[in-house]
Amino acid sequence: MSEAVRDALVKLKAQIGVIGLAALTPLLVLAAILQKLFATIFCCQSPKSILGEVAVVTGGGHGLGRAICLELAHKGCNVAVVDINLSGAEATVKQIQDSYQVRAKAYKANVTSYKEIVELNTQVVRDLGPVTVLVNNAGVLLLRKPLNPDPADVQLMMDVNLTSHFWTKAVFLPKMKELRRGFIVTIASLAALFPLAYSSTYASSKSGAMAHMRALRLELALEKQKNIKVTTVFPTFLRTNDEVRELSNNIGVRSFYPLISGEEVAQRVVSGMLRGESEIHLPGLTCILYRLLLVLPADWQDLAVRVLGRRVFNSFREIQS
Ligand SMILES: NC(=O)c1ccc[n+]([C@@H]2O[C@H](COP(=O)([O-])OP(=O)(O)OC[C@H]3O[C@@H](n4cnc5c(N)ncnc54)[C@H](O)[C@@H]3O)[C@@H](O)[C@H]2O)c1
Repeated sequence: MSEAVRDALVKLKAQIGVIGLAALTPLLVLAAILQKLFATIFCCQSPKSILGEVAVVTGGGHGLGRAICLELAHKGCNVAVVDINLSGAEATVKQIQDSYQVRAKAYKANVTSYKEIVELNTQVVRDLGPVTVLVNNAGVLLLRKPLNPDPADVQLMMDVNLTSHFWTKAVFLPKMKELRRGFIVTIASLAALFPLAYSSTYASSKSGAMAHMRALRLELALEKQKNIKVTTVFPTFLRTNDEVRELSNNIGVRSFYPLISGEEVAQRVVSGMLRGESEIHLPGLTCILYRLLLVLPADWQDLAVRVLGRRVFNSFREIQS
């Protein structure tokens, strides 16, 4: 058989496979909805305990990271609060110690440095014990020149929001694999699913983080590490950060949806993590919107986002000009 005929047959097989999957999709969607309803009504996914475990939370010195540290401590978990800003991390530790009977310690580390993450692990293991909960929360959104960002800003956003997760994974995952348990939580953003105009670097870094975690879940499943859970979180604009709050006021985001508090996100993140949820969207409505938009052709999706976000994008341009 010639190569051309063989290729044509392989293409035909792939096309028949896709048509078969399309025919099955309504049934699969129904099955997924029923499974979710069943799990919710009968509370099938009972949460795991992290009492006495050790968590590392990056960017724990402010905002959502701090709220997650407090929520983990509330569940009885010891917390290594990691931040490039040590005084912020120390303030989080103080809040934990004022309210909970767990061990907490502040660490200064820059997540973009592999060497510092290796050193961090040595210190945390010595002070608190092996790490079984990793929260990749540290993130930056640099809006100094969104229409034409400086290369240094592009590099920093990619390094903090995406590359650092490869360093934390390389350093903390081996012990989890050895213990055959653990949790990895990555704070992405709705921007990963709905990339907006004038925030392409941030959106790319967060989409990359999503892809990284999806690949990691597959790898862990192939390695039969079913007790290491990987959760990616996609929040909308939060009330945690003054810059983001100001931006969302200026561009009128609040007319689409109110800003969410860090505490609300933290509770949802930790409870979802303990139930082994793979992806968490906040608010939940955005998950449905995303799936509905995804079935449209790409140029229709672009058009929908342009129409819905027209006011936001215009304000963005005005702010920058
Ligand atoms: N604020 C929002 O509206 C929003 C929306 C969606 C997703 N997110 C994501 O949630 C996460 C937390 O956001 P936030 O609003 O709480 O941020 P924040 O700016 O309030 O806090 C981030 C913390 O990370 C620390 N940090 C920054 N760079 C670091 C580095 N290189 N090494 C170590 N620590 C570093 C900062 O010092 C700070 O304490 C981020 O990943 C962000 O992208 C935020």
